[in-house]
Amino acid sequence: MKNKPIILVTGAAGQLGVSLQEEAKNHPHYQWHFYKRKDLDITKPDEVERVLEELRPTFCINTAAYTNVKQAEFEKQEARLVNVTAAAHLAKICAYYNTQLIHLSTDYVFDGAQAHPYTEDDRPQPVNHYGKTKAEGEALVLAESENHYVVRTAWLYASTHGHNFYRSILNKATAGESLQVVNDQVGTPTSTTQLCAYLLRLIEKQPPGGIYHCAGETIQSWYGFAKDILKAHQLEVPLEEIRTPSTEVKRPRFSALSTTKRF
Ligand SMILES: NC(=O)c1ccc[n+]([C@@H]2O[C@H](COP(=O)([O-])OP(=O)(O)OC[C@H]3O[C@@H](n4cnc5c(N)ncnc54)[C@H](OP(=O)(O)O)[C@@H]3O)[C@@H](O)[C@H]2O)c1
Repeated sequence: MKNKPIILVTGAAGQLGVSLQEEAKNHPHYQWHFYKRKDLDITKPDEVERVLEELRPTFCINTAAYTNVKQAEFEKQEARLVNVTAAAHLAKICAYYNTQLIHLSTDYVFDGAQAHPYTEDDRPQPVNHYGKTKAEGEALVLAESENHYVVRTAWLYASTHGHNFYRSILNKATAGESLQVVNDQVGTPTSTTQLCAYLLRLIEKQPPGGIYHCAGETIQSWYGFAKDILKAHQLEVPLEEIRTPSTEVKRPRFSALSTTKRF
């Protein structure tokens, strides 16, 4: 137990946090510590400092985030506190204890005006508050240490848990509901299984610090994704493609992530 590299995971009750707890069972050569919000609130500097001092982890995977894109428009300060202020402080304390931070970020840092997948070198230009906070957060994280990682992912879903598009489509279709899904937002749906494997590989290989993209291979609209989900589960319900209602929070029209940066 003593010489195993220590991995601290924040936000452990969230979608990715739960998937990482599952994945950890396959990696007993690491000493895993999963902290839910009630055990470690990253907006509380003294809690962060206490846990880092106690554990002295080799890696910290920060999955904790304010992730409600709609609500972020109404709770701007709350979203900023978690995604910017707390992320920056966590990065600073990690750097102090020589802990490599793996900070999760999002395709929503981009504006969607591009016609080809966004690379790690493309300039963030978010169109909503959630995206703005995530973009600011990632810049501050990287400024704290050249060893820290920002891993951007997109349209994340776990098939077994969490609130996500995949499960919402599946639940509605299983209940026999007809579906209306937007066809004018295009991205790269990514399973937490793929992301967990990616994070583990990052930890094992330890490429240079910086930004990395982990996203699914298929570039599609939410409508196309819904079609695939129904097909995979042999569900047949009416599925109508619609445009994004004008009342919706602004989101990038095209936010596919390029995953050509290898390590
Ligand atoms: N979901 C997506 O489609 C998507 C896409 C791209 C990138 N990402 C990024 O991927 C990461 C993981 O996302 P996810 O889908 O796992 O999100 P999630 O299911 O919303 O989980 C986030 C977790 O963070 C916790 N949290 C919030 N504020 C906290 C705080 N102050 N201290 C500690 N924990 C706190 C939440 O707890 P409560 O439930 O108690 O609030 C929740 O358990 C995030 O950085 C997100 O921005 C997600």
